[in-house]
Amino acid sequence: MKRFHRDWRMRFDQARRIMEEEKRPLLFQLATFALDGHPATRTVVFRGFHGETEQLLFATDMRSAKVEEINAHGWGEACWYAAESGEQFRIAGNIRIIDHTTDDPALGADRRAIWDSLSDDVRKQFHWPPPGRDRDEKEEMPTKHKIELADPPDNFGLLLLIPIRIDYVDLRTRPHRRILSRPSPAGDWFERDVNP
Ligand SMILES: Cc1cc2nc3c(=O)[nH]c(=O)nc-3n(C[C@H](O)[C@H](O)[C@H](O)COP(=O)(O)O)c2cc1C
Repeated sequence: MKRFHRDWRMRFDQARRIMEEEKRPLLFQLATFALDGHPATRTVVFRGFHGETEQLLFATDMRSAKVEEINAHGWGEACWYAAESGEQFRIAGNIRIIDHTTDDPALGADRRAIWDSLSDDVRKQFHWPPPGRDRDEKEEMPTKHKIELADPPDNFGLLLLIPIRIDYVDLRTRPHRRILSRPSPAGDWFERDVNP
């Protein structure tokens, strides 16, 4: 087992740069435990890292099922296949929920900054009726008409994924390369090559 400083982050940032250059969203599949114990996955947009940490940020509607699931069971795994470079990042860890009651100025600033970065079209979705509930055609779903979008509503939240294991696969080489990374107590990462 070798000790490295942020090597998985360097690989991640390199793959991410390709998406950013093309102005395409970086889409993860985020897995949680459904309340009945089954796995639950969904697509979420990666919104960046929290400050100088390696903790990943995603936006969520606080009324969505994943929030209740994470409150019941905080472990999750997020998977990104960077198709352009043939790399897969599987990032497992504990998920923390950030909302308007979170008493941490830095995380509050993340919530504000991510809200500010959203298009009006996406912001309006937080004013739609609760996700997953039976559709009622009479219920108003604001799309085009004007609503107050400057400030985040209380149901706008963030998910903060705090990694404890990164499983990386690089398909560009023969044989493929696979590296497992785990954080060390000193703040760097233990990495080891494993069979793909
Ligand atoms: C391309 C794409 C991007 C999405 N991005 C997000 C996102 O960033 N956050 C989010 O909560 N849901 C996002 N969704 C919707 C989720 O995949 C999911 O349908 C929704 O969050 C409800 O999931 P849940 O009931 O498991 O909470 C996205 C869906 C697609 C297709």
